Amino acid sequence: MPDTDFTIHPVTPTLGAEIGGLDLSRPLGPATASALVEALDHHLVLVFREQTLSDADLVRISGHFGPLDKAPITENGRLHAPGYEEVYVISNITENGRPIGALGAGESVWHADMTYLETPPYASSLYALEVPAEGGDTGFLSMFAAYDALPEPLKRRVEGLSIKHDSTTNSGGYLRQGFSPPADVATSPGTVHPLVIAHPVTGAKALLLGRRPHAHIPSLSVAASEALLDEIWAAAVRPELAWHHRWRVGDLVMWDNRWTMHRRDPFPADQRRRMHRTQIAVPADRRQDPRRTVAA
Ligand code: SIN
Repeated sequence: MPDTDFTIHPVTPTLGAEIGGLDLSRPLGPATASALVEALDHHLVLVFREQTLSDADLVRISGHFGPLDKAPITENGRLHAPGYEEVYVISNITENGRPIGALGAGESVWHADMTYLETPPYASSLYALEVPAEGGDTGFLSMFAAYDALPEPLKRRVEGLSIKHDSTTNSGGYLRQGFSPPADVATSPGTVHPLVIAHPVTGAKALLLGRRPHAHIPSLSVAASEALLDEIWAAAVRPELAWHHRWRVGDLVMWDNRWTMHRRDPFPADQRRRMHRTQIAVPADRRQDPRRTVAA
């Protein structure tokens, strides 16, 4: 890691670091920006506390990591911050009888963002504008740690398998606008990826699970796929491997979407939560898309 003008405090042995000493409302120099990209590669989740950011700041900071996608289509349509198509609003707040954002106040299940795409996003950032007094924490899990947690016989069984990532339903369990409820996971829409992927530089293996609901292993019957997926999820997605972030207003959290999954705790529906999120595509010039690298 090169000398940086910020501090890095890891929060768990497998992922997460709190970054100190940066005011992100000010422009970042190129050396600082590339050191942050490196820190994200290394720690997978970065937390910046006590920031005061406009949507323009959020777009600028995220843009140091790669090109930004438009806000995704949610249960309430494509909801973005006024004037910023790249800034996705996650909120339970309604204004003039209409939701201003997605995901409501319920649980958002473990998932990686938009793995139903051929090339899912590289990273996401989430900035807290309003937070509830209780609940609404966001959990993170390293998919390297999840793979490592599999018993050896299960590692051998998953090797070489593929998995279909459902495109109909979001992590809050809501149907995306324009989709029908999936009747049969064997034929419902989605994208097939390798179940085990390898880091292009270190070769370390990781699970690529996407999310559990409506997933399917195409080489197996639905019953056999369900049984194996349940076994994998039980072995890999364990509370003791996860780290949950307790939000304060002004927190910015960035995560590497390729090697982590995240989830959100529910919170009281009568308390307000308002988060602005950007989604960062895999930069063309950086490195090969690890999803195309099937682990040997
Ligand atoms: C998400 O799944 O991206 C939302 C996480 C959150 O609301 O904390």
